[in-house]
Amino acid sequence: MAKLRQISWAVVVDGRTLWTRNAVPKYSQYGEQLRRFKGVEYRRWDPTRSKLGAGLSRARNTQYDLLPNPGDTCLYLGAGHGTSLSHLHDHVCGNNNEKEGRIIAIDLSPRCLRDLVYLEKIRPGLVPILGDARNSSSWRMMLPTKVDWLLQDVSQADQAEIFIDAAKKFLKKGGKGLLSLKAASERFDASGDKIIFTKVRNQLEHSGMVVNEQIDLHGLEDNHCLFFTTMK
Ligand SMILES: C[S@@+](CC[C@H](N)C(=O)[O-])C[C@H]1O[C@@H](n2cnc3c(N)ncnc32)[C@H](O)[C@@H]1O
Repeated sequence: MAKLRQISWAVVVDGRTLWTRNAVPKYSQYGEQLRRFKGVEYRRWDPTRSKLGAGLSRARNTQYDLLPNPGDTCLYLGAGHGTSLSHLHDHVCGNNNEKEGRIIAIDLSPRCLRDLVYLEKIRPGLVPILGDARNSSSWRMMLPTKVDWLLQDVSQADQAEIFIDAAKKFLKKGGKGLLSLKAASERFDASGDKIIFTKVRNQLEHSGMVVNEQIDLHGLEDNHCLFFTTMK
């Protein structure tokens, strides 16, 4: 076993492998390996199955800053079947929501929602909602206050516009916003990925957000980039 490096109370790195402290002991969410470090059970966070995990693995300068604080209120647009969400929950909420966090998880797909509703039962602190990230009027009542942390991973056209709109409406001043951008989902033109990523970076900066790091996920999630921003 290589020396463990602690990223947070619930996230450790063993060599190059990320692990999160399992908030639901003995339960593997997506077939990931479970193992004990110093008597505590952790789940392997597969960076090829999770853009957030890939971002954490690849971040050069911001690995310790990307995640929210335990106990934060978070908004996750495009939560899918809950793969990344489960690891995020390990960190923000923990076992029986001992950290008193809250993660509002939105997805458009009823099939995904079914999985998220199951997750909610075993992971208190999660709030799954069937909704469209582009149309917040149907779910904004679930957000009585602005959030500390926003993650968007919707893989559809106009990802940057949807993210900027959500950040302006829902992210606190100084809050952290992560945009997972899939180049192939953008309509721009026949531009290469790098040009698309540069255009989106400019869009984010012009909208008043600080881009702390632009993390290229190539090799883990091809044609993807994770923008780590802060709301001014
Ligand atoms: C790449 S998957 C998400 C994977 C997930 N973030 C993870 O890492 O475990 C993209 C998800 O975005 C959802 N989606 C696409 N467009 C959306 C929209 N406009 N509003 C909400 N969800 C959307 C899809 O249903 C899909 O589940």
